[in-house]
Amino acid sequence: MASLGFNLGFTFSSAQIQQHRKVSGGGRVRVISCNSSSSSSSSSQASSPQGISAATPPEIELEFFGPKPGSDGSYPVDKAKAVSGEKLLRSIMQDTKIELYAAYGKVMNCGGGGSCGTCIVEILDGRDLLNERTDTENRYLKKKPESWRLACQTIVGNKENSGKVVVQRIPQWKK
Ligand code: FES
Repeated sequence: MASLGFNLGFTFSSAQIQQHRKVSGGGRVRVISCNSSSSSSSSSQASSPQGISAATPPEIELEFFGPKPGSDGSYPVDKAKAVSGEKLLRSIMQDTKIELYAAYGKVMNCGGGGSCGTCIVEILDGRDLLNERTDTENRYLKKKPESWRLACQTIVGNKENSGKVVVQRIPQWKK
């Protein structure tokens, strides 16, 4: 049986696959593998005997707005993707070289231990895709807006959800 694998953050149901076969005349199904980040990761994904990549974990898309507008007046945007529920926001930003800290935090941060309060971000959209604020955050962000989080305490996704999270970097510069 030929296989059909997609890595677009979703999978097809068997009904959809059947429909695809009908549309393609019931002949051979071509193996299609789509991966926007790297081709090497597709080889590590398991496929079912029917070729449906049921093991593809859900992903969270992230957008990061810079704290200051560029010369054209628009805010710079960085993008990243993460497997749902696997990483802290701080780790994702470090892995993708997206600046998290303001000047003081760059040299004085606690390394993600939850004891400095310098890894502040604002979640502009997608708060429901993250864990609840921790006690550490409630302590450091007591008088800050509900949308502010500490990136080292923020888990992106819950292993089952997917969607988009929009983050404002260094929100304290905007207030
Ligand atoms: S890095 Fe220190 S509290 Fe997050």
